[in-house]
Amino acid sequence: EKGTYPHYMLKEIDEQPLVMRKIIQAYQNDQNELTIDADILAAMDQSDRVYIVACGTSYHAGLVGKQFIEKLAGVPVEVHVASEFVYNMPLLSEKPLFIFISQSGETADSRAVLVEVKKLGHKALTITNVPGSTLSREADYTLLLHAGPEIAVASTKAYTAQIAVLSILSAVTAKAKGRELGFDLVTELGIVATAMEALCDQKEEMEEIAREFLATTRNCFFIGRSLDYYVGLEGALKLKEISYIQAEGFAGGELKHGTIALIEEGTPVIALSTQENVDLSIRGNVKEVAARGANPCIISMKGLETEEDRFVLPAVHEILTPLVSVIPLQLISYYAALHRDCDVDKPRNLAKSVTVE
Ligand code: F6R
Repeated sequence: EKGTYPHYMLKEIDEQPLVMRKIIQAYQNDQNELTIDADILAAMDQSDRVYIVACGTSYHAGLVGKQFIEKLAGVPVEVHVASEFVYNMPLLSEKPLFIFISQSGETADSRAVLVEVKKLGHKALTITNVPGSTLSREADYTLLLHAGPEIAVASTKAYTAQIAVLSILSAVTAKAKGRELGFDLVTELGIVATAMEALCDQKEEMEEIAREFLATTRNCFFIGRSLDYYVGLEGALKLKEISYIQAEGFAGGELKHGTIALIEEGTPVIALSTQENVDLSIRGNVKEVAARGANPCIISMKGLETEEDRFVLPAVHEILTPLVSVIPLQLISYYAALHRDCDVDKPRNLAKSVTVE
């Protein structure tokens, strides 16, 4: 039940700190160490390449997951949109492991790939919020999200839960392979949960940003580099889905290769900067669009902030920033939809679970 909340989406955004803590608990053993089923670890260890397959928001979580698995566990990863993979299968490596990411576990496009993968005799792991769902039953292994039911059509807490579970899978695989992480993931995810709480307490600020940048605009761009680019893709999807504003996420460096032609006087450009190695480059991109009349809204992170920033996120470990940087984007989309009188929980033309291909 949504209780005192006006919409499920807002309730589910607010549940994210609690979901982080539930996930930490669910994946800890009696010694408070993170653990993953031994069969899954063996499958990760034996695989020469991981293929992540998903749709929509879950695909965006997969993009972040690729960085985790490659950087922490040292296994190469490809991320594919399920509906493309099924008709245009890439050349597979010798020992592929498939990871299906799906909140509902019922998405037909992903299931179609799983059926093909099983025919080829490959192993598959499903990361889902729904125990006993089709994708969970048909895969060899399952990791659960522990996010609780997600009712709003726009996915919020499932996205952050997917990223958290992918971080745990990557860290535990790294440890099993004898690789040094250099940080304690339980501590860092705890810091994330606290940062999420602080962000959920700043709704008025998000409402203000939505009013200032998005109340009447026809379009909006999200730019970022590296992890911030992936989160920008998710921010754009959220905004499109529930506010019907035409929104696109771009890698900052790609602007000059075409998209910058779309910038007009007053075009809102939401820029994320949470990654030290690309901070200067993305700020350079902001200058480029501002010089052409854009209205930039920079969201940065404590430690990287400058006076031009509209909002500064609390600091978290650099690899975990998507877990916090997405929250203002979720809230901004929510308030933009409200300002524009859209049906937040049930946007037009969309269903919660897409069970047709
Ligand atoms: C966006 C959204 C969709 C889903 C997609 C996959 O807010 O909810 O893009 O992420 O339909 O659904 P699942 O994760 O259930 O496979």
